[in-house]
Amino acid sequence: MTSMKKTVILQSKTNFLFTLSINYKMKKSLFAFAVVLLSLGSCNAPNGENQGSSAGNADNQAAIENIMTRSSIRHFKEQPVEQEKIDIMLKAAMAAPTAVNLQPWHFIVITDKAIMKALSGPSPANAPLLIAVCGNTDKNVLPDGKTKVPDFWVEDASAATENLLLAAHALGLGAVWTAAYPAMDRVEVIAKVLGCPKNIVPLAVVRIGYPDEEPKIKNKFKEENISYNRYGGKKKQ
Ligand SMILES: Cc1cc2nc3c(=O)[nH]c(=O)nc-3n(C[C@H](O)[C@H](O)[C@H](O)COP(=O)(O)O)c2cc1C
Repeated sequence: MTSMKKTVILQSKTNFLFTLSINYKMKKSLFAFAVVLLSLGSCNAPNGENQGSSAGNADNQAAIENIMTRSSIRHFKEQPVEQEKIDIMLKAAMAAPTAVNLQPWHFIVITDKAIMKALSGPSPANAPLLIAVCGNTDKNVLPDGKTKVPDFWVEDASAATENLLLAAHALGLGAVWTAAYPAMDRVEVIAKVLGCPKNIVPLAVVRIGYPDEEPKIKNKFKEENISYNRYGGKKKQ
């Protein structure tokens, strides 16, 4: 059973069909993957028709579990990442919130080994897939065509990067965020290798692939990092 593969068809709420080869070793990932499909499908639901379910339902629990069990992965199998999964990760990335909905980003999908090598630097080098998440600094003008917004592209591209990491995890992949902006020495190298114009600024290079390690999940929850109502305020018992 462990190495058995089967083709399954998953149908999202928008009647979008996905056909995938599923390895039975990836039971948990499949469940979380279904959650991603359902949540992508529910993006188009008007008037919040998919809202209102309790925090305890299975979809919500799986979504929270996906967040809580994500961990950086730095060792990858050689197995390439399927295009269907790349497409889903990019859709998840672009579902992130952005200031004034400007969506000031650009994603560069890298599978070319020579380009990967040029980007490897001090970071994990053996991932079969890299996605450079870049900010587009030209997309900083409100719809009036005049008013400029501050550099929110950094937050916007960061939100997209986190969505990408979570989608990768839900799809049974592993990923790690490797830094670019604001480390300008890295930004310059990455931008040069990728041929980015001046307005396209690499924020992160996400390294993605099938995990070749089982990381211990870190518990980072600390009460001391929370206040209620004012700094230092305690939770009502
Ligand atoms: C802005 C940012 C930059 C990071 N840069 C790197 C990096 O260059 N190389 C690397 O191996 N990990 C990098 N990481 C991953 C962190 O080391 C990792 O998220 C952290 O140790 C917590 O571990 P976890 O992701 O498993 O929860 C980066 C993470 C963030 C958010």
